[in-house]
Amino acid sequence: MKYTISLTKTENSKLGGVDFNNIPFGRHFSDHIFIADFDGENWVNPRIEPFANFSIHPACMGLHYGQSIFEGMKATKTLDGQPMLFRPEMHAARMNASARRMCMPEIPESLFLQGLDMLVGVDADWIPPQEGSALYLRPLMFANDEFIGVRPSAKYKFIIMTGPVGPYYPKPVRLMAENHFVRAVNGSTGEAKAAGNYAGAMLPTKMAQEKGFDQVMWLESPEFKYIQEVGTMNIFFVINGVTITPVTDGAILKGITRDSIITLLREEGYPVEVRRITIDELVAAYKAGTLEEVFGAGTAAVVSHVSHIQYDELLMELPPVEGRKISRWVKDHIDGLRSGRFEDTHGWVVPVGVFQEEEVPA
Ligand code: COI
Repeated sequence: MKYTISLTKTENSKLGGVDFNNIPFGRHFSDHIFIADFDGENWVNPRIEPFANFSIHPACMGLHYGQSIFEGMKATKTLDGQPMLFRPEMHAARMNASARRMCMPEIPESLFLQGLDMLVGVDADWIPPQEGSALYLRPLMFANDEFIGVRPSAKYKFIIMTGPVGPYYPKPVRLMAENHFVRAVNGSTGEAKAAGNYAGAMLPTKMAQEKGFDQVMWLESPEFKYIQEVGTMNIFFVINGVTITPVTDGAILKGITRDSIITLLREEGYPVEVRRITIDELVAAYKAGTLEEVFGAGTAAVVSHVSHIQYDELLMELPPVEGRKISRWVKDHIDGLRSGRFEDTHGWVVPVGVFQEEEVPA
């Protein structure tokens, strides 16, 4: 279905105030925003407007009861300047999986893709040209009923905001295996990209940061043995040449970068195991000298090397990044697919503009 999306362009671009050679993550917002409203029955009034604050009622249900979900995506430019999206259909599908879990309405795939595509086209000058930087895209849907009782909201707002970003983790990260707090268990909301999952992680993360770590590495309750994921990314281990990542069993986010990495490594002939892995197995590999690489993967993080993992009294110091064959190959490959340096044989990298199909005359 073709949606009619109205466009009001800004007369005061902020682009001149951004230094593309020094972009902190998440601080700059580009000139326009996409908005659509769910009126209880339909998604209505899709529009692109100048980026600005909007007002919400103090009883907005999303604020009170946490019906709020989002995606993280990136747009990049190829070496010849063509703006590209990365696996947009998969993000649309994951957004709707989150919506179903949080009892929110799904967004028609064509509305998600057309809004995103048009917005990125309008703000294409905001895409940083250098490899490793990108225009970060943040689709967000939240409950918008003005009501204090607890029930699913009838009204929702769906927005897409964007902003240029550099690397989320500019240097290798230090992780602390968390053996007290829990992110998610089977049957909870762990697989959804729900705002509340991130809220629950704030305190343990702050406590880990106070001890000198960047993020927590979540272990599964109640045994605190099986490794799940890291605060902002999925996790991969290379033990004896085999790449291992936890199976997404309902409590772990189904990362799209994670899926891309598994596919690329297998195609390249690297052995990959998607299975449950315990912290004891990790410690044993570390002590035996066979834990070769650890890296996180996510849209924001792309591929982020891990330098240390603390577990109880043991601080595991991982080998230097320079010698990490697999994570360096896969990072280079994902960056290179996005910039067009490597051929995309999967149809993952989609030129901006393709979702604006021609109007069919009535
Ligand atoms: C992403 O990788 O895009 C995320 O959503 C993680 C984080 C920045 C919240």
